[in-house]
Amino acid sequence: MFSERPVLLKMTWPSDFGRLSPGFLTILLSFTFQGAYCGLVVSPVGPTLVNVITGSNVTLAVSFSGAPDPTVTWFIKDFSLPVVTWAINSNTLPDIDENRRKVLRIEPNGSLTFVNVPLEYTSNYTVEMTKSGLGRSSTTFSLEVFSSPVQFLPAVGTRVDSEGKIVVAIQCVSEAWPKAVVSWSKGSEALTNGTPYQISSDTTQLEILGYNVSKFLLQNYFCNCSNPLGSQTREIVLTGPSISNSSLLSSHNGTIVTLTWEVPPTSVVTGFDIQMKGPDLLGKNHTQTSLDQFYTIQHEPGTNRSADIFILDPNLTYMFRIIPKALMTEGDPSAVHRIGPGEGLSRSAITGIAAGIPCGILFLLLLGGFIYCVYWNKNKSRQTRYPLSRAVEKAVTSQTETTPHNLLTGGLKSPPDYNRLQQTPSERSVALPTFGSPLPVRVATTV
Ligand SMILES: *[C@@H]1O[C@H](CO)[C@@H](O)[C@H](O)[C@H]1NC(C)=O
Ligand SMILES: *[C@@H]1O[C@H](CO)[C@@H](O)[C@H](O)[C@H]1NC(C)=O
Ligand SMILES: *[C@@H]1O[C@H](CO)[C@@H](O)[C@H](O)[C@H]1NC(C)=O
Ligand SMILES: *[C@@H]1O[C@H](CO)[C@@H](O)[C@H](O)[C@H]1NC(C)=O
Ligand SMILES: *[C@@H]1O[C@H](CO)[C@@H](O)[C@H](O)[C@H]1NC(C)=O
Ligand SMILES: *[C@@H]1O[C@H](CO)[C@@H](O)[C@H](O)[C@H]1NC(C)=O
Ligand SMILES: *[C@@H]1O[C@H](CO)[C@@H](O)[C@H](O)[C@H]1NC(C)=O
Ligand SMILES: *[C@@H]1O[C@H](CO)[C@@H](O)[C@H](O)[C@H]1NC(C)=O
Ligand SMILES: *[C@@H]1O[C@H](CO)[C@@H](O)[C@H](O)[C@H]1NC(C)=O
Repeated sequence: MFSERPVLLKMTWPSDFGRLSPGFLTILLSFTFQGAYCGLVVSPVGPTLVNVITGSNVTLAVSFSGAPDPTVTWFIKDFSLPVVTWAINSNTLPDIDENRRKVLRIEPNGSLTFVNVPLEYTSNYTVEMTKSGLGRSSTTFSLEVFSSPVQFLPAVGTRVDSEGKIVVAIQCVSEAWPKAVVSWSKGSEALTNGTPYQISSDTTQLEILGYNVSKFLLQNYFCNCSNPLGSQTREIVLTGPSISNSSLLSSHNGTIVTLTWEVPPTSVVTGFDIQMKGPDLLGKNHTQTSLDQFYTIQHEPGTNRSADIFILDPNLTYMFRIIPKALMTEGDPSAVHRIGPGEGLSRSAITGIAAGIPCGILFLLLLGGFIYCVYWNKNKSRQTRYPLSRAVEKAVTSQTETTPHNLLTGGLKSPPDYNRLQQTPSERSVALPTFGSPLPVRVATTV
């Protein structure tokens, strides 16, 4: 066949073409086809089915022949998504898909390397090489990345079925390949499909049915995810209805508030009562007559984590809280959220406290002076009766409460005994005279 080449080279177009015999044409065409076939060829080095453990480095190795420095393109899934393009031996950097640059590298010979390959890189990879005039060629690899079950958090959901039974669903889904099979147990007892336990066909979900919430609690449930590469076990401790965090947001003009809350991940909860204390919402009447207790203003389903409440009078003060429930079982209420003018301590209360400090000191100074005068008068007149009026006796009592009691007995180290300081004024007024003269002086000097 190769011997025909000189004939081809001697031909001149178009005058000589007409003289070609049909037999020669056949030989010429087959030569031309053969020449293209002998051009660019890419082929896998090693098996095309590649299995690796997640996190390892793996190379889909290829070799090529028939053309120098072809352009290489690696695709994911049958040419649909090009991820790397490069002209071998060119000075330009390979064009690598932005989201895959951490993992994918192209080797100088066109092979594709995966660094610390993640699980989701399981796919078919096709390499195509092209060189203008020398054709194109491709080959496909199938990459499977395996992993043992890894870190996962069980998820708990609760609903009420049509018979009014509470249904707690626990889900254990771990990222793993091959997919993990989940086995379930309660304590050391293996759970199987049937009442009151239902296990989904893919084994990842356990449903527990019952009328009584306490039945679910105080039980240790376990899920064990396993595949040929390993296993992971998690313990699920269900808790009663509870709220882990809550907050209140007010609309800009204060007529609508939004309560939002969170529930611990393993809490069994089917609904919430939104409760309020304070004046009626505008346009709504409630049956309670007392402003002093919380009453339920609305119910929210167990899947809700927020509720809007309206219409509030921005000039009035309201308090809200959320009661988590599992059917009739109530959990601890959330924190109380207060909304209205003068949130927290009112301005006047703060002013009063601030003003109270210097006033108190002044009062004590005056009191000390007064007592000193009385004492001085007492010594002068040698009266035996302790001369304080009832009001002043009370004042002395309150003063001793801020004065370490043991100052009077000479013990400076031990802290005040608050129980003793709570003595009734009458006890104190009996005790006072036994200290005799030092008392007023002490009071005056401690100020
Ligand atoms: C994979 O390659 C990266 C980068 O070359 C290297 O840091 C890492 O240690 C390699 N990992 C393994 C498991 O060989
Ligand atoms: C191409 O390079 C890769 C990685 O350097 C290597 O594994 C592979 O064997 C090479 N292929 C050929 C045909 O040399
Ligand atoms: C890879 O290709 C094969 C054969 O075409 C197909 O059966 C398989 O599902 C593909 N794998 C992936 C991960 O797309
Ligand atoms: C729920 O079960 C607990 C313990 O099994 C029991 O003490 C309680 O009375 C039951 N409550 C209801 C409403 O059946
Ligand atoms: C989890 O299941 C696997 C496979 O059945 C078993 O080998 C392993 O001991 C189990 N782990 C626990 C903690 O039960
Ligand atoms: C409670 O929620 C607030 C606001 O969403 C958040 O800033 C805070 O970190 C949360 N606290 C806890 C303990 O989750
Ligand atoms: C408060 O704002 C809401 C919308 O945010 C509006 O519908 C309502 O009329 C406003 N009320 C007052 C008193 O401004
Ligand atoms: C609230 O009660 C008052 C007096 O009983 C009545 O006139 C009004 O219509 C009621 N409003 C609503 C929204 O029920
Ligand atoms: C709130 O009080 C202010 C001033 O006392 C008054 O002008 C305003 O109308 C009040 N708003 C409502 C909704 O009652």
